[in-house]
Amino acid sequence: MVGLPARGKSTVAIRLRETLRKNSIPTRIFNNGNLRRRYLSKVNSYGADFYNPDNKDAVELRKRFAMMNIHSAKRYLENNGQVSILDATNVSNERRWLIEEHLGDHPILYIECVNDDAEILHLSILQKVRSPEFALLSPDNAYQEFEKRIHYYQMIYEPLQNKQNYFKIDSLQNKILKEQILQPFPLYSRIRDFLVTDAVKSLYLIRHTESYYNLEDRIGGDPGLTPDGIEQARALARFFQKKRISYIFTSEKKRTIQTAEPIAELQPDCMIVPLKEFNEIDGGICESMTYDEIRAQMPDIYYARKDDKYNYIYPHGEGYISMKQRIKIGIKKAFYLNIRSNNIMIIGHRAVNRMILSHFLYRRQEDVPFIYVPQNKFYKIVATQDKKLFELRKYQ
Ligand code: F6P
Repeated sequence: MVGLPARGKSTVAIRLRETLRKNSIPTRIFNNGNLRRRYLSKVNSYGADFYNPDNKDAVELRKRFAMMNIHSAKRYLENNGQVSILDATNVSNERRWLIEEHLGDHPILYIECVNDDAEILHLSILQKVRSPEFALLSPDNAYQEFEKRIHYYQMIYEPLQNKQNYFKIDSLQNKILKEQILQPFPLYSRIRDFLVTDAVKSLYLIRHTESYYNLEDRIGGDPGLTPDGIEQARALARFFQKKRISYIFTSEKKRTIQTAEPIAELQPDCMIVPLKEFNEIDGGICESMTYDEIRAQMPDIYYARKDDKYNYIYPHGEGYISMKQRIKIGIKKAFYLNIRSNNIMIIGHRAVNRMILSHFLYRRQEDVPFIYVPQNKFYKIVATQDKKLFELRKYQ
């Protein structure tokens, strides 16, 4: 792996190991950070100075850990292993030459992860500084130290060039930005396919519970939950109490956040992450109106939408068609942040959830705006290379 800290390298490594193992390909990850944490429990390696390229002792120590992992990876391949993943930044040519010098008799594939989305980077750093490694620092200090650490790596970063086999990927979008394969190797197509797949073991897709606007059939706006809606949210919380949910992705609207709150309260360590990408379809000039009011006051809009609901765009607002891209980005963000736990929870809205469902479930476009999205049930989605499952389940 190659890439700055918090660019999704370990996430890709862990998922890749899982996929390969599932295909009976013995795979192991050799992670320099884990080795460092294991051996240096008494040394301050959480502070940024440990990553300063001018800190000679620390540079030497880090190189030693890299070498230990390179040797272990080699031993693994010489015994029963088939794939060794060197999970570390490996951002300098010098470090990559070291790998080639010792592992050059095996095919080497570099996977460089890049991702410069500021929001994702911020959330990834927040996730990093929650780990026990930073227990001695305040969250703010830990955040600053981690940013400095990234900066030190940026100083020595030499992007991949002239490598026989490499993929440069946008690890948020699961998109290959550049690739070169000059030395064919047996797992090529399996790995390539894996890199571009959105896989999820359990995605719980929930629609927010009853809001004040739902009572009147009003669209959009930012209403809160009714007392019944709050009760439904509590029932959801009890239902999911035994499952481990690390993140709940919501929209920025009150009704989704209020649905998430009781669920998060019953989880030991759960963060609510509101994403603008999951905001409900923007009704433009029709926001906060009821469907009957739209029909009576703006019949052109009402009937034009009725004629072609998927492609219709509300004046000054959105349509299903124009939501597609942002929903896709929201899904990528949620998957990126949550990939290490098997359960992903998204609390969205009617149109949003239809679009999320259609990302995984084939539906003709014209049918997407009619997918059934009730408030007293949720969808469980499994989408892996071997399995596709959609289940509508009750929680009460
Ligand atoms: O009524 C709830 C709601 O989420 C509105 O905010 C939104 O405009 C609507 O559903 C989307 O559903 P449809 O596309 O069927 O109008």
